[in-house]
Amino acid sequence: MNDLRFDHRTVLVTGGAGGFGSQTCRTFGERGANVVVADLNLEKAAEVAAELPSAVAIQMDVTDPESIEAGIQAAVEAFGSLDVLVNNAGAPNRGGPIEDTSVKDMDWLFQINYRSSVLATQAALPHLRASEIGSIINVASISAKRPRPGHAVYCSLKAGVEGLTRALAVELAPEVRVNSVSPVIAETGFVKNATGQEKLTDEARASMVAGIPMGRPAQTQDVANAILYLASDLASFQTGVCLDVDGGRSIS
Ligand SMILES: NC(=O)c1ccc[n+]([C@@H]2O[C@H](COP(=O)([O-])OP(=O)(O)OC[C@H]3O[C@@H](n4cnc5c(N)ncnc54)[C@H](O)[C@@H]3O)[C@@H](O)[C@H]2O)c1
Repeated sequence: MNDLRFDHRTVLVTGGAGGFGSQTCRTFGERGANVVVADLNLEKAAEVAAELPSAVAIQMDVTDPESIEAGIQAAVEAFGSLDVLVNNAGAPNRGGPIEDTSVKDMDWLFQINYRSSVLATQAALPHLRASEIGSIINVASISAKRPRPGHAVYCSLKAGVEGLTRALAVELAPEVRVNSVSPVIAETGFVKNATGQEKLTDEARASMVAGIPMGRPAQTQDVANAILYLASDLASFQTGVCLDVDGGRSIS
Protein backbone atom coordinates (compact mmCIF):
# COMPACT_ATOMS: atom_id res chain seq x y z
CA MET A 1 0.00 0.00 0.00
CA ASN A 2 1.21 3.46 -0.83
CA ASP A 3 -0.26 5.69 1.85
CA LEU A 4 -0.30 8.78 -0.31
CA ARG A 5 -1.87 7.26 -3.45
CA PHE A 6 -5.51 7.91 -4.36
CA ASP A 7 -5.94 5.53 -7.31
CA HIS A 8 -9.62 4.79 -8.04
CA ARG A 9 -10.63 7.42 -5.48
CA THR A 10 -12.67 10.49 -6.31
CA VAL A 11 -11.87 13.85 -4.77
CA LEU A 12 -14.09 16.92 -5.18
CA VAL A 13 -12.56 20.33 -4.51
CA THR A 14 -14.85 23.39 -4.29
CA GLY A 15 -13.22 26.60 -5.45
CA GLY A 16 -11.03 24.17 -7.40
CA ALA A 17 -9.97 26.76 -9.98
CA GLY A 18 -8.46 29.17 -7.42
CA GLY A 19 -5.09 29.37 -5.71
CA PHE A 20 -5.34 26.70 -3.01
CA GLY A 21 -8.03 24.77 -4.88
CA SER A 22 -6.15 24.30 -8.16
CA GLN A 23 -2.95 23.24 -6.39
CA THR A 24 -4.97 20.77 -4.31
CA CYS A 25 -6.51 19.36 -7.50
CA ARG A 26 -3.03 18.95 -9.06
CA THR A 27 -1.65 17.35 -5.92
CA PHE A 28 -4.40 14.71 -5.77
CA GLY A 29 -4.27 14.27 -9.56
CA GLU A 30 -0.54 13.50 -9.42
CA ARG A 31 -1.32 10.72 -6.94
CA GLY A 32 -3.85 8.92 -9.09
CA ALA A 33 -7.15 10.48 -7.97
CA ASN A 34 -10.14 11.18 -10.15
CA VAL A 35 -10.54 14.91 -9.51
CA VAL A 36 -13.71 16.97 -9.70
CA VAL A 37 -12.79 20.63 -10.11
CA ALA A 38 -15.88 22.45 -8.85
CA ASP A 39 -15.94 26.22 -9.21
CA LEU A 40 -18.19 29.14 -10.04
CA ASN A 41 -15.75 29.91 -12.85
CA LEU A 42 -16.27 27.00 -15.24
CA GLU A 43 -13.70 28.22 -17.78
CA LYS A 44 -10.88 28.26 -15.22
CA ALA A 45 -12.06 24.97 -13.71
CA ALA A 46 -11.86 23.40 -17.18
CA GLU A 47 -8.29 24.68 -17.58
CA VAL A 48 -7.28 22.99 -14.31
CA ALA A 49 -9.08 19.75 -15.22
CA ALA A 50 -7.35 19.68 -18.62
CA GLU A 51 -3.94 19.53 -16.87
CA LEU A 52 -4.84 16.35 -14.98
CA PRO A 53 -4.89 12.71 -16.08
CA SER A 54 -8.43 12.02 -14.82
CA ALA A 55 -10.58 15.03 -14.02
CA VAL A 56 -13.82 16.81 -14.82
CA ALA A 57 -14.76 20.43 -14.35
CA ILE A 58 -18.17 21.34 -13.05
CA GLN A 59 -19.78 24.68 -12.42
CA MET A 60 -20.84 24.97 -8.80
CA ASP A 61 -22.00 28.02 -6.88
CA VAL A 62 -21.48 27.18 -3.22
CA THR A 63 -23.87 29.94 -2.15
CA ASP A 64 -26.69 28.08 -3.95
CA PRO A 65 -28.00 24.88 -2.28
CA GLU A 66 -29.36 23.46 -5.56
CA SER A 67 -26.08 24.04 -7.35
CA ILE A 68 -24.18 22.20 -4.60
CA GLU A 69 -26.56 19.24 -4.74
CA ALA A 70 -26.36 19.09 -8.55
CA GLY A 71 -22.55 19.33 -8.47
CA ILE A 72 -22.17 16.44 -6.04
CA GLN A 73 -24.51 14.32 -8.18
CA ALA A 74 -22.55 15.21 -11.32
CA ALA A 75 -19.32 14.14 -9.61
CA VAL A 76 -20.76 10.76 -8.67
CA GLU A 77 -22.17 10.30 -12.17
CA ALA A 78 -18.75 11.09 -13.66
CA PHE A 79 -16.69 8.67 -11.55
CA GLY A 80 -19.17 6.37 -9.74
CA SER A 81 -18.20 7.38 -6.21
CA LEU A 82 -17.11 10.25 -4.00
CA ASP A 83 -14.39 9.56 -1.40
CA VAL A 84 -12.99 12.94 -0.37
CA LEU A 85 -14.76 16.31 -0.16
CA VAL A 86 -12.58 19.41 0.12
CA ASN A 87 -14.70 22.39 1.17
CA ASN A 88 -12.28 25.04 -0.03
CA ALA A 89 -14.39 27.75 -1.72
CA GLY A 90 -14.52 30.90 0.37
CA ALA A 91 -13.93 34.62 0.13
CA PRO A 92 -13.07 37.64 2.28
CA ASN A 93 -14.87 40.94 2.43
CA ARG A 94 -13.01 44.01 1.19
CA GLY A 95 -12.21 44.95 4.79
CA GLY A 96 -13.38 47.88 6.85
CA PRO A 97 -14.86 48.74 10.21
CA ILE A 98 -17.61 46.50 11.58
CA GLU A 99 -20.12 49.35 11.53
CA ASP A 100 -19.75 49.54 7.74
CA THR A 101 -20.46 45.83 7.17
CA SER A 102 -23.89 45.59 5.58
CA VAL A 103 -26.47 42.87 6.26
CA LYS A 104 -26.16 41.88 2.59
CA ASP A 105 -22.38 41.41 2.93
CA MET A 106 -22.78 39.48 6.18
CA ASP A 107 -25.32 37.11 4.64
CA TRP A 108 -23.08 36.50 1.62
CA LEU A 109 -19.99 35.92 3.79
CA PHE A 110 -21.99 33.41 5.84
CA GLN A 111 -23.20 31.60 2.74
CA ILE A 112 -19.84 31.33 1.02
CA ASN A 113 -17.58 30.72 4.04
CA TYR A 114 -19.70 28.59 6.36
CA ARG A 115 -23.09 27.44 5.05
CA SER A 116 -21.40 26.07 1.91
CA SER A 117 -19.50 23.48 3.99
CA VAL A 118 -22.65 22.35 5.79
CA LEU A 119 -24.64 21.99 2.56
CA ALA A 120 -21.86 20.20 0.66
CA THR A 121 -21.44 17.82 3.61
CA GLN A 122 -25.16 17.04 3.59
CA ALA A 123 -25.16 16.37 -0.15
CA ALA A 124 -21.97 14.30 -0.12
CA LEU A 125 -22.60 12.29 3.02
CA PRO A 126 -24.32 9.20 1.57
CA HIS A 127 -21.43 8.80 -0.87
CA LEU A 128 -18.72 9.45 1.74
CA ARG A 129 -20.32 6.91 4.07
CA ALA A 130 -20.25 4.35 1.26
CA SER A 131 -16.50 4.88 0.80
CA GLU A 132 -13.83 2.98 2.74
CA ILE A 133 -11.90 6.23 3.17
CA GLY A 134 -14.71 8.81 3.38
CA SER A 135 -13.23 12.09 4.52
CA ILE A 136 -13.99 15.82 4.57
CA ILE A 137 -11.39 18.57 4.73
CA ASN A 138 -12.64 22.10 5.37
CA VAL A 139 -10.50 25.12 4.58
CA ALA A 140 -10.68 27.54 7.52
CA SER A 141 -8.07 30.25 8.19
CA ILE A 142 -5.49 31.17 10.80
CA SER A 143 -7.51 34.37 11.12
CA ALA A 144 -9.94 32.28 13.18
CA LYS A 145 -7.32 32.42 15.96
CA ARG A 146 -5.30 35.48 14.93
CA PRO A 147 -7.81 37.91 13.42
CA ARG A 148 -6.77 41.12 11.70
CA PRO A 149 -8.86 44.29 12.06
CA GLY A 150 -11.44 44.96 9.37
CA HIS A 151 -12.45 41.35 8.79
CA ALA A 152 -14.47 40.51 11.91
CA VAL A 153 -17.28 38.65 10.17
CA TYR A 154 -14.95 36.62 7.92
CA CYS A 155 -12.60 35.72 10.80
CA SER A 156 -15.42 34.62 13.10
CA LEU A 157 -17.04 32.55 10.34
CA LYS A 158 -13.72 30.75 9.84
CA ALA A 159 -13.69 30.09 13.61
CA GLY A 160 -17.13 28.62 12.97
CA VAL A 161 -15.66 26.35 10.30
CA GLU A 162 -13.16 25.01 12.87
CA GLY A 163 -16.04 24.44 15.30
CA LEU A 164 -18.06 22.74 12.60
CA THR A 165 -15.08 20.49 11.85
CA ARG A 166 -14.87 19.27 15.44
CA ALA A 167 -18.66 18.90 15.81
CA LEU A 168 -19.00 16.90 12.60
CA ALA A 169 -15.97 14.79 13.49
CA VAL A 170 -17.75 13.42 16.56
CA GLU A 171 -21.08 13.12 14.75
CA LEU A 172 -19.77 11.28 11.69
CA ALA A 173 -17.14 9.00 13.26
CA PRO A 174 -16.16 6.33 12.64
CA GLU A 175 -17.44 6.22 9.03
CA VAL A 176 -16.30 9.66 7.89
CA ARG A 177 -13.31 11.64 9.16
CA VAL A 178 -13.61 15.42 9.28
CA ASN A 179 -10.57 17.70 9.54
CA SER A 180 -9.65 21.22 8.53
CA VAL A 181 -6.65 23.33 7.57
CA SER A 182 -6.05 26.91 8.68
CA PRO A 183 -3.70 28.69 6.28
CA VAL A 184 -1.91 31.95 6.87
CA ILE A 185 -1.90 34.60 4.10
CA ALA A 186 -1.01 33.39 0.61
CA GLU A 187 -0.89 35.57 -2.48
CA THR A 188 -3.80 34.04 -4.37
CA GLY A 189 -6.89 35.70 -5.83
CA PHE A 190 -7.98 35.99 -2.21
CA VAL A 191 -5.57 38.90 -1.66
CA LYS A 192 -7.08 40.78 -4.60
CA ASN A 193 -10.56 40.27 -3.16
CA ALA A 194 -9.47 41.34 0.34
CA THR A 195 -7.44 44.41 -0.65
CA GLY A 196 -8.71 45.42 -4.07
CA GLN A 197 -5.09 45.26 -5.31
CA GLU A 198 -3.67 42.79 -7.80
CA LYS A 199 -0.63 42.13 -5.54
CA LEU A 200 0.30 43.03 -1.99
CA THR A 201 2.49 46.12 -1.80
CA ASP A 202 6.03 45.44 -0.52
CA GLU A 203 5.09 47.31 2.65
CA ALA A 204 1.92 45.26 3.24
CA ARG A 205 3.77 41.99 2.52
CA ALA A 206 6.59 42.92 4.94
CA SER A 207 4.07 43.73 7.66
CA MET A 208 2.25 40.39 7.17
CA VAL A 209 5.47 38.39 7.06
CA ALA A 210 6.73 40.11 10.22
CA GLY A 211 4.10 38.14 12.14
CA ILE A 212 5.11 34.79 10.61
CA PRO A 213 8.12 33.14 12.35
CA MET A 214 9.01 31.15 9.22
CA GLY A 215 9.50 34.47 7.43
CA ARG A 216 7.30 34.03 4.37
CA PRO A 217 3.64 33.80 3.33
CA ALA A 218 2.09 30.37 2.67
CA GLN A 219 2.57 28.80 -0.75
CA THR A 220 -0.40 27.03 -2.31
CA GLN A 221 1.60 23.77 -2.16
CA ASP A 222 1.93 24.07 1.64
CA VAL A 223 -1.85 24.01 1.92
CA ALA A 224 -2.35 21.28 -0.72
CA ASN A 225 0.19 19.07 1.11
CA ALA A 226 -1.68 19.44 4.41
CA ILE A 227 -5.00 18.60 2.73
CA LEU A 228 -3.46 15.57 1.00
CA TYR A 229 -2.04 14.32 4.29
CA LEU A 230 -5.34 14.69 6.16
CA ALA A 231 -7.18 12.78 3.41
CA SER A 232 -4.56 10.03 3.27
CA ASP A 233 -4.18 6.70 5.06
CA LEU A 234 -1.34 8.27 7.05
CA ALA A 235 -4.01 10.28 8.90
CA SER A 236 -6.51 7.43 9.24
CA PHE A 237 -6.73 7.90 13.03
CA GLN A 238 -7.06 11.68 12.85
CA THR A 239 -10.43 13.35 12.99
CA GLY A 240 -11.52 16.73 14.36
CA VAL A 241 -8.01 18.08 13.74
CA CYS A 242 -7.74 21.76 12.78
CA LEU A 243 -4.26 21.86 11.29
CA ASP A 244 -2.55 25.26 11.16
CA VAL A 245 -0.58 25.84 7.96
CA ASP A 246 0.78 29.13 9.15
CA GLY A 247 4.58 29.16 9.48
CA GLY A 248 4.06 29.66 13.21
CA ARG A 249 1.80 32.72 12.99
CA SER A 250 -0.53 31.32 15.67
CA ILE A 251 2.26 31.15 18.26
CA SER A 252 4.06 34.40 17.48
N1 LIG B 1 -5.19 33.09 0.35
C1 LIG B 1 -5.20 33.32 1.65
O1 LIG B 1 -4.48 34.18 2.16
C2 LIG B 1 -6.09 32.51 2.55
C3 LIG B 1 -5.73 32.39 3.90
C4 LIG B 1 -6.53 31.62 4.74
C5 LIG B 1 -7.65 30.98 4.23
N2 LIG B 1 -7.97 31.10 2.92
C6 LIG B 1 -9.15 30.37 2.44
O2 LIG B 1 -8.72 29.50 1.42
C7 LIG B 1 -9.82 29.20 0.55
C8 LIG B 1 -9.39 29.32 -0.89
O3 LIG B 1 -8.95 30.64 -1.11
P1 LIG B 1 -7.84 31.02 -2.19
O4 LIG B 1 -6.78 31.74 -1.47
O5 LIG B 1 -7.49 29.85 -3.03
O6 LIG B 1 -8.66 32.10 -3.05
P2 LIG B 1 -8.86 32.27 -4.61
O7 LIG B 1 -9.60 33.56 -4.74
O8 LIG B 1 -7.57 32.08 -5.33
O9 LIG B 1 -9.82 31.06 -5.01
C9 LIG B 1 -11.17 31.02 -4.69
C10 LIG B 1 -11.91 30.23 -5.76
O10 LIG B 1 -13.28 30.13 -5.36
C11 LIG B 1 -14.09 30.37 -6.48
N3 LIG B 1 -15.39 30.86 -6.07
C12 LIG B 1 -15.74 32.14 -5.74
N4 LIG B 1 -17.03 32.18 -5.41
C13 LIG B 1 -17.52 30.93 -5.53
C14 LIG B 1 -18.79 30.35 -5.36
N5 LIG B 1 -19.84 31.09 -4.97
N6 LIG B 1 -18.94 29.02 -5.58
C15 LIG B 1 -17.87 28.27 -5.98
N7 LIG B 1 -16.64 28.75 -6.17
C16 LIG B 1 -16.48 30.08 -5.95
C17 LIG B 1 -13.32 31.38 -7.33
O11 LIG B 1 -13.76 31.36 -8.68
C18 LIG B 1 -11.90 30.92 -7.13
O12 LIG B 1 -11.53 29.98 -8.14
C19 LIG B 1 -10.94 30.13 0.98
O13 LIG B 1 -11.84 29.43 1.80
C20 LIG B 1 -10.22 31.20 1.79
O14 LIG B 1 -11.08 31.80 2.73
C21 LIG B 1 -7.21 31.86 2.07
